[in-house]
Amino acid sequence: MLRTQILGIGSYVPDRVVKNEEIPFLDDRHHAQATKQTETDDAWIQQRTGIKERRYVTEGTYTSDLALEAAKRALADAGVDASEIDCIIFGTLSPDIHFPGSGVFLQKKLGIADKGNCACFDIRQQCSAFLYGLQMADAFIRTGTYKRILLVGAEVHSHSLDFSTRGRDVMVLFGDGAGAVVLGPLESSDARTGIMYTKVAADGTGADYLKLPVFDISRAPYLQYDPKDREQNKEMYPYMDGKRVYVRAVREMNLATQQALSATGLTWADVDWFVPHQANLRINEQVAALAQIPTEKCLNTIQFFGNTTAATVPLTIDYWRQQGKVKKGDLIVSSVFGSGFTWGAAVFRI
Ligand code: ACO
Repeated sequence: MLRTQILGIGSYVPDRVVKNEEIPFLDDRHHAQATKQTETDDAWIQQRTGIKERRYVTEGTYTSDLALEAAKRALADAGVDASEIDCIIFGTLSPDIHFPGSGVFLQKKLGIADKGNCACFDIRQQCSAFLYGLQMADAFIRTGTYKRILLVGAEVHSHSLDFSTRGRDVMVLFGDGAGAVVLGPLESSDARTGIMYTKVAADGTGADYLKLPVFDISRAPYLQYDPKDREQNKEMYPYMDGKRVYVRAVREMNLATQQALSATGLTWADVDWFVPHQANLRINEQVAALAQIPTEKCLNTIQFFGNTTAATVPLTIDYWRQQGKVKKGDLIVSSVFGSGFTWGAAVFRI
């Protein structure tokens, strides 16, 4: 039976570390000022979210640049040459430009744009994009549509955050980064190899509770930006009803995780690691408690990277692999929740 295997994994974060203590003094261009720009502090951020620091790109960096570095590492880990990739699935909510999608820019940067047999998909499922992409990749490989898929999640958040007290609830949460996996076919009758399970869902009635309305196509021109007009320019920045998102994230991630276990017949004793989306450490602790996940099996990176949206799952797996915790062949349960609302869970070996 044809199954899907993760052949390699890689991740990349920019060099600049931004600690919570710096955040109050950063202006819109992330430059430190002598006076406070935002009323917030390390204690609030750590207590509510678990975040200590995050990474920011330098100006002039595109999301596809971060994706390229993660992709190169995933390809090297897989022992696959970029020329073998016949499909790119790119998850991001911070694309290089409005259109075309970032997949084609990544393809060009990988030097495989002219080979004529590499499809590029951009997917817009925000924090759930990695598991949505994994489900797509699994279906493509099982049906023989593609043989070597590069699935990437990458974000440059720091360029669209509101560095003022008005935007502090969202601004402190997000960081820049990328994660990637290379997938291919595996002939096996063992149901516990490769990608065992993916299930994703959405509820569009949640669309207005977490959104960035900057490209509102119903307006002409859709972009009106006066940096001095604070009321008018708020559409440049993400809006989030944090409490509503928090409550729904805990519920859906818990249910999706429990469903993944019952559908696969696994118990936590069979599973090596639980890798949740990294939106808030408190969300992940509550999901772990509700789904009765042993604490030592829960992997988080939000403390050092913040929320990197589409990148969090591969970035977290790769980070803990570099620390020597996660090993090739380990069985992972992952669950995610994000803007849309979208959510899902997956069970796979890396
Ligand atoms: N620093 C200091 N004070 C702050 C900050 C800040 N950064 N942000 C908000 N506050 C203040 C508020 O103004 C409020 O003050 P008030 O009581 O005087 O009105 C107080 O802190 C409490 O604010 P709440 O919004 O009630 O804080 P809450 O405990 O809900 O925490 C948080 C906010 C951390 C954002 C939380 O709601 C959360 O994590 N939500 C979910 C985030 C998430 O999961 N996002 C989904 C993924 S993202 C994606 O898909 C793109």
